[in-house]
Amino acid sequence: MKTEAFTFDFKIYDSIDELNKEDADLLTEAREVTKFAYAPYSNFRVGANAKLINGERVSGTNQENASFPAGICAERTLLSTASSLFPGIGIETIAISYDNTKGKSDRPISPCGICRQSFVEFQQRTKHPIRIILSGLAGKVQVIENAANLLPFGFSSDDLNDVKH
Ligand code: THU
Repeated sequence: MKTEAFTFDFKIYDSIDELNKEDADLLTEAREVTKFAYAPYSNFRVGANAKLINGERVSGTNQENASFPAGICAERTLLSTASSLFPGIGIETIAISYDNTKGKSDRPISPCGICRQSFVEFQQRTKHPIRIILSGLAGKVQVIENAANLLPFGFSSDDLNDVKH
């Protein structure tokens, strides 16, 4: 028997003012696009903005539906848009923010499990790690260097392709 551990470092900044200009731009745009979310059921408007490795910028917002499971998170809207407009191109950095219109929006939130799964496959197929910036409309900012850190013990296409021996 042996014990193994999974740990990773991430950065916490007190506010957007401590970020470099490029990261601050991404977060500002993520905050800005929360207004394009369609979230009449949760009133929780999520916005994301990413810089791709070809320099292009792409946004995403959550889009809900009266049939609740039909809704999609901002992160996966962004991944689908990026992959449709620029197939095969990796994401350098994605900033994610939210406006909880019935509550507070002053601390970072973290992507849901389905989005973590989608991030990991996106970065595997584009062969480029996704750096993540998390913050509300104000307050602290977390920066995580590799989306795979958010999904230890994840299931992947490697598991599907494992051959018998
Ligand atoms: N949501 C996102 O868009 N991203 C997240 O990381 C967490 C949750 C959306 C889904 C739903 O429309 C609303 O926020 C409340 O869960």
